[in-house]
Amino acid sequence: MSSHEGSVSVTTSDQITEEGLKAVGNTPDPRTRQIVEALIRHSHDFAREVKLKPEELLYAAEFLKRCGEVTDASRHEFILLADVLGITMVVNTITADAPDGTLEPSVLGPFYRSGAPEVPNGADLSHRGDADGVPAHVSGRVLAADGTPIPGAELDVWGTNANGLYENMDPGQPDYNLRGRLHTDEQGRFEFWTVKPVSYPIPADGPVGELFEATKRTNMRPGHLHFIVSAEGYTTVVTELYTDDDEFIDSDPVFGVKASLLAHYELITDEEKIAAAPRKQPYWDLRRDLVLTPGTRTGVQFTAGREEPSR
Ligand SMILES: [Fe+2]
Repeated sequence: MSSHEGSVSVTTSDQITEEGLKAVGNTPDPRTRQIVEALIRHSHDFAREVKLKPEELLYAAEFLKRCGEVTDASRHEFILLADVLGITMVVNTITADAPDGTLEPSVLGPFYRSGAPEVPNGADLSHRGDADGVPAHVSGRVLAADGTPIPGAELDVWGTNANGLYENMDPGQPDYNLRGRLHTDEQGRFEFWTVKPVSYPIPADGPVGELFEATKRTNMRPGHLHFIVSAEGYTTVVTELYTDDDEFIDSDPVFGVKASLLAHYELITDEEKIAAAPRKQPYWDLRRDLVLTPGTRTGVQFTAGREEPSR
């Protein structure tokens, strides 16, 4: 039995927070310590603010468990959750050092696959022609802020076809359809063909879909083309270019749209130009220079795979 004098004091939630912080006080790595301490402080404050009930805490645990259960090689529900809560874009924004005029970052999204085929400039990333959508020609230069071309810069590009699905979610599309990696030439120029991006719903059949239903949000993303642009001596930029005439351009559920990332596609109907195009039909043309800032070239940690359709 304890033999403390006086009345037994009631433990307050603030004392538990203090104890929690003390418990991790010996964490050797300073960054780990900073993050874990902040996690304890903010989560305790969060629970106090909303007066979180035990059954709600349990619900949250089950929600996260189910996020894990629907995550597979081609789908990452936790990334999607961070995206739709705006956490991804907060992190991108506070870490980006993108002066005016340089390429700003946006969300990676849960559907990136590394190892896309390397293609020459001018290649068509669409393997199925009309079945993939309306052709789009994308070209420009990769430049330093002073306008110097960056030769050999890599563009890793991916997009959906006209049904709004990435190839790794759609058994009807060939492997790595509408994905490719290309490199700028000596003048920093790049050029490729794809299809004009369409708006698409983020997956609604998992826990993130339930969150959208509960909060009555739209889950439609405005049409966009994904890019990872990298070159030796420059900061790698993970970003998206957003189709400026898309009906959902002002309500992106993952908050990725920025003014500098709006892209205007011009419809080309000129017969001579059509005759020189791979698919001999009217197409959309996007011209865009991409400006990088000096820094470190980095890789991308997460990459989805492809689920082979079950037979
Ligand atoms: Fe996307």
